[in-house]
Amino acid sequence: MQPQQQQKEEQPTLAKEAVLVQSVPMTDGIPVRGYDFNRGLDYAAMLDAFATTGFQATSFGRAVDEVNRMLHWRLSQEPIKPDEDDAMKIMANREKVKTTIFLGYTSNLVSAGTRDTIRFLAQHHLVDAIVTTTGGIEEDFIKCLAPTFLGDFELDFEDWINPILLQILNEQKSQHINWTPSKIIDRLGREINNPESIYYWCHRNQIPVFCPAFTDGSIGDMIFFFSFNHPGLVVDLVEDIRKINMMAMKAPKTGMVILGGGVIKHHICNANLMRNGADFSVYMNTAQEFDGSDAGARPDEAKSWGKIRANASAVKVYGECTLLFPLLVAQTFAKAVFPPAASAPATATSSAAASDAAATPAAPAQ
Ligand SMILES: NC(=O)c1ccc[n+]([C@@H]2O[C@H](COP(=O)([O-])OP(=O)(O)OC[C@H]3O[C@@H](n4cnc5c(N)ncnc54)[C@H](O)[C@@H]3O)[C@@H](O)[C@H]2O)c1
Repeated sequence: MQPQQQQKEEQPTLAKEAVLVQSVPMTDGIPVRGYDFNRGLDYAAMLDAFATTGFQATSFGRAVDEVNRMLHWRLSQEPIKPDEDDAMKIMANREKVKTTIFLGYTSNLVSAGTRDTIRFLAQHHLVDAIVTTTGGIEEDFIKCLAPTFLGDFELDFEDWINPILLQILNEQKSQHINWTPSKIIDRLGREINNPESIYYWCHRNQIPVFCPAFTDGSIGDMIFFFSFNHPGLVVDLVEDIRKINMMAMKAPKTGMVILGGGVIKHHICNANLMRNGADFSVYMNTAQEFDGSDAGARPDEAKSWGKIRANASAVKVYGECTLLFPLLVAQTFAKAVFPPAASAPATATSSAAASDAAATPAAPAQ
């Protein structure tokens, strides 16, 4: 008998066509590549390499580019429109017009050390308006009042804020001041008189801080108890919504940097809806879209509503902000204050001056 012949099976055509497709050489793609630690420990280069690493690292790299675009935009880069004011047709004036940047953050980011990163932005006037929730206001002041003794926070805060609330009420009665959350936060920033505070710098640099859910926190508790002994304080939300919406509408370009979700995210997006969308946007949060929450809504949802311009290259980075935001600032805002020496040799003096300013905060305002 002949040895049985090995039968060669045909490769299945369907699978062959699906898998063994002819490769086409790519000429213009970006190769996926991470940081090579053989280069030594170079944090800036490592953060640069995030852009080509993939996943959230690449989203982070895109967020860096988006924030740098918002920081570097000037009106002088745009063609002059016939209906512009004469003053705005002068190049030197156009060079001074920058993006109006809205920064939003949830309360917990002030409870955390992210507070110092946010304070840096306010100190160097790198943002134009802030939106936060009440915990993000009171925690900043509480840290100035009692950084060490955890248990005394509420008492110290009450002792500090009650006399200010009384002044505010008296000014409402005697000078007819229409108090809004942003005006009260500005007053508190003036009263704390401490350069470690975010709102001290917001007061100094006249950065408005909006807090539409102003009573949802310890400040609300204080106002509640205060109202029994001293009735009559009125806090007007209408003036503040007009102020933030008009800021967005009047700005030639706007940028949004939104850390976390909820009220702070929607309030900034909604103000930008009034101008048919922000030009530059970065979301950074842990929220997902499957539950239909506004917190989890992605930039494309905002585009569909006109909160972000349809042609904008908005970015969402999925992740926790205490870790990500300082890295983002290091690659963007911090470079605006401390330009890297190699790319800008003439700025050594300004870097040193900025460093001095950071180390020795200016005298408190009265
Ligand atoms: N320390 C506090 O958190 C604190 C203190 C007092 C009062 N409150 C009050 O609680 C209410 C709810 O707080 P909120 O509106 O500030 O936001 P939140 O804490 O409810 O967060 C809203 C969403 O933002 C995202 N998020 C929050 N922290 C994040 C982080 N570190 N990194 C990435 N994503 C993050 C999450 O998706 C979260 O669901 C507010 O009215 C606030 O005043 C909070």
